[in-house]
Amino acid sequence: MIQGAPIGKRFEHCTFDNFDVTDENRDAYEACKRVAETGETGVLIRGKHGLGKTHLLVALMKEYDRRRSASPTDRQQEASAMAVPSASEIIQTADRTFDEDDEIPALSPDEVEREARIEYWPLLDLTSELRSDIAHGSQETSRRCRECDLLVLDDFGAERATDFVLEELARIVDWRYRMMKLTAVATNLLSFKETIAKYGSRAISRWMGSCTVVHIGGEDRRAAMGPG
Ligand SMILES: Nc1ncnc2c1ncn2[C@@H]1O[C@H](COP(=O)(O)OP(=O)(O)OP(=O)(O)O)[C@@H](O)[C@H]1O
Ligand SMILES: [Mg+2]
Repeated sequence: MIQGAPIGKRFEHCTFDNFDVTDENRDAYEACKRVAETGETGVLIRGKHGLGKTHLLVALMKEYDRRRSASPTDRQQEASAMAVPSASEIIQTADRTFDEDDEIPALSPDEVEREARIEYWPLLDLTSELRSDIAHGSQETSRRCRECDLLVLDDFGAERATDFVLEELARIVDWRYRMMKLTAVATNLLSFKETIAKYGSRAISRWMGSCTVVHIGGEDRRAAMGPG
């Protein structure tokens, strides 16, 4: 399940299949695919405007979600060839009733609905939401960003880095780093010097320790496509 800010009509169609891979964006494409497939290490994509960073983040989220969110019915269909009795089948077919002291078999993982929690946040939307939460005495957005399975931060660096924003981001980054949670980031900040000047070396060190950093190059596709 993808939550957070709306992805928007412009990006809803974005997948890995409709992304044109070139020499200049291959590293970013492959890194994003790896995140979706293995769920092991996050990714930080650096690059100028219109090169496909948001496209790749949306593709990553969809693929991650497709692979990890499934209803028990979906998985039972997938696993129909493997006729291993599940806990509920054992319970249903047992010809005796269970006493209070009997150990009841737990539901197998395949019988529990599983849903990946993904948060998508362009930084301008996130900082506005965090401010609004605080004004209402809530920490809901911050909590969801800390705890979700995959946090996707788009346009990192576009926001104004006030003390409040820096503190909130540091808290989210720090938490996810400690819990070894997956994060994908896209930014226009091209140099480490620029990034450190804005966020400090502590936060950047944590990104570096939990993300593969890739550069995306090429021509601005947005400008080439024109309005529409
Ligand atoms: N390699 C590609 N294959 C197909 N479509 C692409 C590719 N690269 C970019 N696009 C399309 O070009 C448009 C601009 O790309 P996108 O918004 O992802 O760029 P961006 O790098 O996120 O830019 P910005 O830094 O300004 O946010 C989108 O409609 C996207 O789907
Ligand atoms: Mg973008």
